[in-house]
Amino acid sequence: MSAHLIDGKAVAAQLRQRITQRVSARVAGGKRAPGLAVILVGADPASQVYVGSKRRACDELGFKSVSHDLPTSTSEDALLKLIHDLNNAPEIDGILVQLPLPNHIDPERIIESIRYDKDVDGFHPYNIGRLALRMPVFRSCTPYGVMKLLETIYPNQDDFHGKEAVVVGASNHVGRPMGLELLLAGCTVTTTHRFTRNLADHVGRADIVVVGVGKPGLIKGEWIKPGAVVIDIGINRLENGKLVGDVEFEAASARAGWITPVPGGVGPMTVATLLENTLDAAERFHDTPVATKRTPELPL
Ligand code: GUN
Repeated sequence: MSAHLIDGKAVAAQLRQRITQRVSARVAGGKRAPGLAVILVGADPASQVYVGSKRRACDELGFKSVSHDLPTSTSEDALLKLIHDLNNAPEIDGILVQLPLPNHIDPERIIESIRYDKDVDGFHPYNIGRLALRMPVFRSCTPYGVMKLLETIYPNQDDFHGKEAVVVGASNHVGRPMGLELLLAGCTVTTTHRFTRNLADHVGRADIVVVGVGKPGLIKGEWIKPGAVVIDIGINRLENGKLVGDVEFEAASARAGWITPVPGGVGPMTVATLLENTLDAAERFHDTPVATKRTPELPL
């Protein structure tokens, strides 16, 4: 068997087109463009690339993007102050703080300081909690993007019901919300992590495998159940400069029914979903005049 490729670029392009139409319609109706503040602390080369593509996407889709590039030496208090100001800026609908942050800054404290109605990354405990309770507001961009890819294979809600889904990796921002998304969709979900025994056995019974660890070749092609859907969130640069995921792509393709390429699979969906969340934030929470809307009150 040779797997079908899941074309993340094409699915993301369709989503971007729908977002562009919505933005054009709101601007034509006299509303402001949605605004995204993108904060980068330090000069991590991979983060610079990711932030660059998010800012470019804002320009391409008619969003206002506000850039804050801060030195590595930025203090946690200075970053909290900036977020406080952006929380109160009426033209800003979404705030993204690119991770990882320098070691002296506590990422969880930073994320928790973002107003949940501007947390377009979907990382705030409020938004993760809403997802866990089946009442999602802002859904973490990468897992939500993965669900949109899976919906191209399983177009009906009940297609997901009872599927064995195995998530490899239990990080706060990818693995855990990914498991919650698949559970919400009605899959039977297993999350594996560093203490998991017999990873091969778990992967081998999965109808859907989603891998987000950051270790090239972690998932052997021979583990994949014939016909399974394989989603590779990993993005690793090898010494020869090549970008690869966490799954042995060639060997897995020989067994899987569907597989995402790296690059060109999940990555473009993360960016498109971020913009969709930002537009939703504008429409759902910020279009109403401040005096009449219910503003979320969260401690700084
Ligand atoms: N670092 C790697 N991926 C992401 C992401 O989706 N959002 C943020 N804020 N940081 C990241």
